[in-house]
Amino acid sequence: MATKKKPAKKTARKSAARAVRTGSRGAAFSPATVIAAEARHLMNTYKRPDIVFTRGRGCHVYDSEGREYLDFLGGIAVNALGHAHPRLVKVIRREAARAIHLSNLFHNPYQGPLAEKLSKWSGLDRVFFTNSGTEAIEGALKLARAYAHGKAQGGAAKKTRILALENSFHGRTFGAVSITYPAKYREPFEPLVPGVEFVRCNDVADLEAKFDDTVCAIVIETIQGEGGVFPITLEFWERVRALASKHDAALIADEIQCGLGRTGRYFAYQKFDTRPDIVTVAKPLAGGLPLGAILANEQFAAAFKPGLHGTTFGGGPLICAAALEFLTVIEEKGLLEQIRERGAELRAGIETLAEMFPFIREVRGEGLIIGVDLTIDGGPLVQEALKRGLLINCTHEHILRLLPPYIITRRDIAEFLKRFEAVLVQARKTPGAHSGSLEQPKADAKAAAALAATR
Ligand SMILES: Cc1ncc(COP(=O)(O)O)c(C=O)c1O
Repeated sequence: MATKKKPAKKTARKSAARAVRTGSRGAAFSPATVIAAEARHLMNTYKRPDIVFTRGRGCHVYDSEGREYLDFLGGIAVNALGHAHPRLVKVIRREAARAIHLSNLFHNPYQGPLAEKLSKWSGLDRVFFTNSGTEAIEGALKLARAYAHGKAQGGAAKKTRILALENSFHGRTFGAVSITYPAKYREPFEPLVPGVEFVRCNDVADLEAKFDDTVCAIVIETIQGEGGVFPITLEFWERVRALASKHDAALIADEIQCGLGRTGRYFAYQKFDTRPDIVTVAKPLAGGLPLGAILANEQFAAAFKPGLHGTTFGGGPLICAAALEFLTVIEEKGLLEQIRERGAELRAGIETLAEMFPFIREVRGEGLIIGVDLTIDGGPLVQEALKRGLLINCTHEHILRLLPPYIITRRDIAEFLKRFEAVLVQARKTPGAHSGSLEQPKADAKAAAALAATR
């Protein structure tokens, strides 16, 4: 009996698919076609370089031409265990074959244990799962308002004001964008949620002037991320805590970018002795899958009753299993200590470079959230870094932001510093490509940094 021969076409298709997966030359698609399709059919919200990334492994990503990039952006603070971490891959495969989604109308095996771990880490009591950071912020604002309404007797319903900080970023949905400071994010969408007022970051006098009994919540990023890696001072935090307690308002810490290990602590606020009432998290929570959460103490959490808030997707079994694995890996591998050590090494390396390149005004941050404040435009440096196989990001036009995975090694840091130095050398060689001063004297730089720290 004649055996059927494998059709040559099928073999070719298989190897083409493999090419896409490995990102090697000869991938089944043409990057130019992909880019053209995006240009034609996507809404015009991002300026992207002409590169198509096809895969990642550890702290590296690879484009469709097989070029390797060292990833010091980590999907904007998301890929905390790098790419294709074997323990995450294993859990996601297992759960995908069981149940990707059930419904929040029923129990699933992972929400409870995940909430329990988040409670243990944060010292807060209850959790609500969301799909993103901005949605966690929306829920946190609703929770604070619901609490205030619950307390309101007769005319006391005026307790609706929300304080946020200048230079903040909390997301893109209406509530979140209403408490986000830069006008470019807010003004095109006005009118926004009413009742929001901004306080100068770390300015206690301004805080005291604006805080009274009509405030239901104050929202603070413990370290302002998108704003350029500016930490909240102890003095400011303590005053916020005291005023929120005095006026029965919620202190909401937005730890979406700086929380869940990024600073070398479970939460950035844990460097202070006091706790917020409500905490929002997202980005790295499920190792790259979209998951956020609102954590709250019993007092505030009790304001949500069945039916008052909800979500279709948030907290599905697959995604919660991945998140549980992510948090377990952090604990089992002692990653917090590693984050502190690698972070200190990375920062020391950049500070050494700052001595050589006077256009580095200041280096800020803790653990693996680091801002490199420049006196020149940072955009061309990001492009130069890309050419040299390095992924970094620039915020506020002149602050380079580094958010590498928690698993970076000494070798990765050495490689980063080598490539970054080459980027800085190139910036010095081509002053015409930059607006701003390449040669700001250090004394001026210190004054500028002091000024920036008061923002
Ligand atoms: C501090 C902070 N809050 C909220 C958000 C919004 O999160 P998402 O983009 O997941 O909606 C971000 C995103 O960058 C953030 O950095």
